[in-house]
Amino acid sequence: MERIPRHVGIVMDGNGRWAAKRGLPRLAGHNAGMKALKEIVKRASVLGVEHLTVYAFSTENWKRGKEEVSGIFKLLILYIDRELDELHRNNVKVNILGEYRELPDNALASLEKSLATTAGNTGMQFNIALNYGSRAEIVRAVRAIAGELAGGALDMDGICEQAVSERLYTGGIPDPELIIRTSGEKRLSNFLLWQGAYSELVFSDVYWPDFTPDELEKSIEEYQGRARRFGGR
Ligand code: IPE
Ligand code: IPE
Ligand code: MG
Repeated sequence: MERIPRHVGIVMDGNGRWAAKRGLPRLAGHNAGMKALKEIVKRASVLGVEHLTVYAFSTENWKRGKEEVSGIFKLLILYIDRELDELHRNNVKVNILGEYRELPDNALASLEKSLATTAGNTGMQFNIALNYGSRAEIVRAVRAIAGELAGGALDMDGICEQAVSERLYTGGIPDPELIIRTSGEKRLSNFLLWQGAYSELVFSDVYWPDFTPDELEKSIEEYQGRARRFGGR
C-alpha cells in the first residue's frame, strides 16, 4: 500500500451494541474490543503507520455505571499486561493522552510500566486516549499559555497555532490525516477536535469488535481515494 497516513486516529465504538446483538453483557463487548485492538495495532505497525491514536475512554464515559467503568479499566489492564512483551518486541512505543493520573491505582501502575518499558522504542507510537476529552485538552493548553504569559515566559506574539498545538497532549505528534469511527455513528464525540481540523473522516458501520485488520486497510484505501485540498484549489 502506498500513501500510508502517518497518523491514524480511531474512535473504537460499538462494543455495547456488539454484545447486545449476541445477548451478552456489555463487558463481553469491551473484552471482544480489546481483542480487536490487539490485531489493529499489529497491522497498523506492519503497514508503517507512525502514530496510531485510539480513543479508549472519554472524559464523558464516567457517566456510565460504576460496574462498566471499573470493568473497562480491568480489561485495559489485562490487555496491557498481556500485550506489553509483544508490543516491546515489535518496537512499539506506548504513550497516553489524557488525564490518566486520575485513573484507579492498579490501572496507573500498569500504564506506567508500559510507558517505562517502551520509552526507548523507535517504531510505531501507540497513543491511548484515556480519560481524554478534546475540550478539556484545549482548556489545559489555554491555562498553560496563560500561566506562561503571566510569568513572562511567553509574550502575546508568541500565542499562535503552533503554541497551542505544542501544549496539547499530542504536542510533537503530527495531526492525523485519517480519523476512523466504527459502529455507524457519525460524530467525533470530543476526539481530536483541534488536531482533526483537516483530517479525512471515514465511518465504518462495523462494530468495533468486528473491525478486522482488513477493515483497517479498507478505511485507509478510502482515505487514499480522497482529494485533500486544505482550502486550496
Ligand atoms: C466503545 O463502545 C467503548 C467505550 C466507549 C469505552 P461503547 O461502549 O460505546 O458501545 P456502544 O456505543 O454502546 O455500542
Ligand atoms: C466515544 O464513544 C468514546 C470512545 C470510543 C472511548 P461514545 O460511545 O462514548 O460516544 P457517544 O456517546 O456515542 O457520542
Ligand atoms: Mg458508544
